[in-house]
Amino acid sequence: MKLAVSILGIIDNEEKISKLNIDSVKYIHLDVMDSTFVPNYKVPSNMINYNKKLDIHLMVNDIVKYLEYYKGLDINNITFHYEIGNTLEYINLIKKNNYKVGLAINPGTNIDLIKPYLDKIDIVLVMSVEPGKGGQDFITSSISKVNDLISYRENNNLNYLIEIDGGINDELIKNLNVDIAVVGSFITKYDDYENQIRKLEI
Ligand code: DX5
Ligand code: ZN
Repeated sequence: MKLAVSILGIIDNEEKISKLNIDSVKYIHLDVMDSTFVPNYKVPSNMINYNKKLDIHLMVNDIVKYLEYYKGLDINNITFHYEIGNTLEYINLIKKNNYKVGLAINPGTNIDLIKPYLDKIDIVLVMSVEPGKGGQDFITSSISKVNDLISYRENNNLNYLIEIDGGINDELIKNLNVDIAVVGSFITKYDDYENQIRKLEI
């Protein structure tokens, strides 16, 4: 399992962000919010002091605009939400820009709806909280969603990675057989990041 750390809670603190330049962190998870798809507005810029590839989570309606905005950064994948529509168009657009494609689903979205796209994407991002803010409680039904996505992948010989985002802590992570875990406040709320990461036993 790989660890992506959400820096939502420390976005304006370069010193804290630089504490994530350690081997146990695989990606910096960058949450982008446009105040229309989600109520909050957060468009991180001037990204410095980190040496990880970015896992960009677009909680926005205007994919074209934010693709342009983050061009030039060291990006692993661009993930957008199924709920905004035009799924195939955006998958192709992100691929054309040479990024891996992630498709995110809200807690209320059934995985049957994204099955037609699962052979075309690199990552499924299962939201285990309502998108929009950090520090929320994990929604338990996300565990069965992850398990269904694992079986579907196996039964259909597919290769997408499964990533989970929201409310993860050292207890919940034990029940999750995901490829990438996004963890925010469980790490960034404390001073000793390495100690918190150790507890996750990733
Ligand atoms: C929620 C974001 C998450 C979240 C993670 O909208 O996508 O990345 O902030 O933070 P925690 O781990 O605090 O839920
Ligand atoms: Zn996120």
